[in-house]
Amino acid sequence: MNICVIGSGYVGLVTGACFAEFGVQVCCADNDAEKVARLQQGEVPIYEPGLDEIVDRNLRQGRLSFTTDTADAVRHSLVVFIAVPTPPLPDGSTDLSAVESVAREIGRTMDGYKVIVTKSTVPVGTGDKVRGWVAEELRRTGRVAGFSVASNPEFLREGAALGDFMRPDRVVIGADDEQATAILKDLYRPLYLIETPVVITDLRTAELTKYAANAFLATKISFINEVANLCERVGADVHAIARAMGLDRRIGPKFLHAGPGFGGSCFPKDTRSIAHFARHSGDAFEIVEAVVRVNARQRERMVDKVVDALDGDLRDRTLGILGLAFKPETDDMREAPSVDIIEALIERGAHIRAYDPQAMPHAVKLLPQIVPCQDAYEACEGADGLVIITEWNQFRMLDLNRAKELLRHPVIVDLRNIYDPGAMRAAGFRYVCVGR
Ligand SMILES: NC(=O)c1ccc[n+]([C@@H]2O[C@H](COP(=O)([O-])OP(=O)(O)OC[C@H]3O[C@@H](n4cnc5c(N)ncnc54)[C@H](O)[C@@H]3O)[C@@H](O)[C@H]2O)c1
Repeated sequence: MNICVIGSGYVGLVTGACFAEFGVQVCCADNDAEKVARLQQGEVPIYEPGLDEIVDRNLRQGRLSFTTDTADAVRHSLVVFIAVPTPPLPDGSTDLSAVESVAREIGRTMDGYKVIVTKSTVPVGTGDKVRGWVAEELRRTGRVAGFSVASNPEFLREGAALGDFMRPDRVVIGADDEQATAILKDLYRPLYLIETPVVITDLRTAELTKYAANAFLATKISFINEVANLCERVGADVHAIARAMGLDRRIGPKFLHAGPGFGGSCFPKDTRSIAHFARHSGDAFEIVEAVVRVNARQRERMVDKVVDALDGDLRDRTLGILGLAFKPETDDMREAPSVDIIEALIERGAHIRAYDPQAMPHAVKLLPQIVPCQDAYEACEGADGLVIITEWNQFRMLDLNRAKELLRHPVIVDLRNIYDPGAMRAAGFRYVCVGR
């Protein structure tokens, strides 16, 4: 089967490379000519563990290609995936302009039956809009071609994207006609063989499923952060509570880690989007609206923690920061808690020395005031305190004696609870963490 994926970012590139790995003929299209030129050379422009290998292999074996010519990619494909960005607008709604422009281009150029699939996360009803945009362009250009529109939301996690794509918890296929469903089931057949559950449903249900899942996960995070804040007021330990809660199989241990709150390219925008379209449907989604507020306040609380740890005054104090990406194992800085936290610290007078294993090139553009460091220890040099914002594995076993020698004051603010409070205090640190 020939397919194309329009948009070669975190989702599109992983989707294209993984389908190629299953033996499908895949063309990835993107309107960023520089990105396409790099990809054609086998150079992967993002950090995603294992992705460069499968891109390189499938490129060399001729199953994967890259182009800026979307029209050509569409003409040669039975299935066309749309994996372009759907960023938030200031009111929380979703900017569908990239989806619209791709849908119109498909309509202008398709020359036979296509299954047009939104993999981008899109508000309920977008599939119907895509159908309308494609039909309008067909009419306008005086051509007749059959097509189906389907929704196949993506649940991969950055940093673990290949495993999530190839061994997903489930695949969701939403379509309003049987032909599209049959073609997509056939495309995902390699996953049936490893017995991946496939949820077949209608278009709108599939679209909403993605938001419901992300909103629920975000709720777990904001919930445990509220528990952590309560722990701090009453003298309890959120770590033990999260463990005890998580051992209950009805709750499960994941997404119960207290910290600076969620960030990244999905949870912040998807929670705001579902809250927005719920209100437009006639009623507020109260829980999600609270989750969004709690998450914003959590970042402010983290700033207060750092200020308190430095005795209330950051003027001309230097802070070492470890971890800037929104989570470990990615270079993605979109809506990373580190950005808001660092900007607030700088506003209060702090100087920042920072290190992240992968995100430095993006981080220095977003935070030009920081001093970029080569490793964790360089970030400690001469700092009045160290703040751990993202829990990369390499920060879990720091040489604490070396860190203490390099720091001007032995202060560690651990926003991810990766160290044991008792052990840190015994090691001579003023140690501040979250909810313990
Ligand atoms: N990143 C994730 O972890 C994740 C997970 C699940 C779902 N999603 C959803 O998938 C979608 C894409 O997210 P992403 O993180 O891959 O975005 P991204 O920004 O990494 O990639 C998008 C790509 O689309 C290209 N593009 C933009 N407009 C285009 C156009 N008109 N024609 C061709 N190419 C175009 C961009 O150049 C870019 O390479 C979003 O809707 C997002 O919510 C993302």
